Amino acid sequence: MSPPGTSAEPSPPGVNPELGPPAKAEPADKTRRVVLITGAAGGLGQALVCEFTAQGWFVAAGFHRSPLPAQPDTVLPVQLDVSRKDHAQAAALSCLRRWGRLDALINNAGLIADAPLWQSSEADWDRVLRTNLKGAFLCSQAALGPMLDQRRGHIVNIASFSGRVGAAGQANYSAAKAALLGLTQSLAREVGGGNVCVNAVLPGVLPTAMTANLPAETRERLTRTNVLGRANTLAEVARFVAFLATLENVSGQIFQLDSRLAPWT
Ligand SMILES: NC(=O)c1ccc[n+]([C@@H]2O[C@H](COP(=O)([O-])OP(=O)(O)OC[C@H]3O[C@@H](n4cnc5c(N)ncnc54)[C@H](OP(=O)(O)O)[C@@H]3O)[C@@H](O)[C@H]2O)c1
Repeated sequence: MSPPGTSAEPSPPGVNPELGPPAKAEPADKTRRVVLITGAAGGLGQALVCEFTAQGWFVAAGFHRSPLPAQPDTVLPVQLDVSRKDHAQAAALSCLRRWGRLDALINNAGLIADAPLWQSSEADWDRVLRTNLKGAFLCSQAALGPMLDQRRGHIVNIASFSGRVGAAGQANYSAAKAALLGLTQSLAREVGGGNVCVNAVLPGVLPTAMTANLPAETRERLTRTNVLGRANTLAEVARFVAFLATLENVSGQIFQLDSRLAPWT
């Protein structure tokens, strides 16, 4: 076999030659649903992979720079930079080739580059918007073809409380996540007639690499403003997302899973 990118054969549309040959087709198991999870090597991503797998789904686990740990054979690792259209399309195509369908997409990839706005670089603004927002656009566009063909699908966007209420030092991230809520509701209106649901989840503060460097006083404030006085857990958020992805009569909604209160304005 030629190494990736050196084959004389042209790649099928949407397939990035750098990503190598498509996964081997498996006999379709119509009873198992198929989910594509972005940012699957991250803290919440790994919890999502575990939960969907435990619930009997086939999982395409999109990893970016960090590799995935060893996975069961119901998990297909796919290299996926969500800011690249060719990667997004190749990931959706990998699901079709391997399992013949795509039932759910979890737009989970995200990053922060926190700084007060006046000290924030243009490069960080672009990076944060590209990953948290444009990535959801590109992956949703890639997933919608098969979902609309099947007349069934569910997209879950992992947004943030910062996108609802803003957060000092996170203008880029808050803007991206607020826009993700707008994308969720607009897309839900567009594809509801095609029987595709689109919802957003605000997972709350979670113990992942993203929050590892929070100052102690910020942690204390986040705990104090939570009516339960504690953060949610990765397992509980993953359980909710996997349940939500099975619902067929709920769309265009925003589910907040931490227990901070803020008026809806
Ligand atoms: N942790 C929290 O308290 C919290 C709160 C609210 C919302 N969220 C949201 O929850 C989601 C998961 O975050 P997390 O807490 O699990 O953070 P995390 O552990 O840092 O995971 C983020 C993942 O996103 C991936 N990623 C970054 N850029 C990417 C790109 N261009 N293409 C594809 N993947 C990319 C990262 O991969 P690489 O490291 O390989 O680049 C990483 O695997 C994010 O959308 C985040 O905004 C988290």
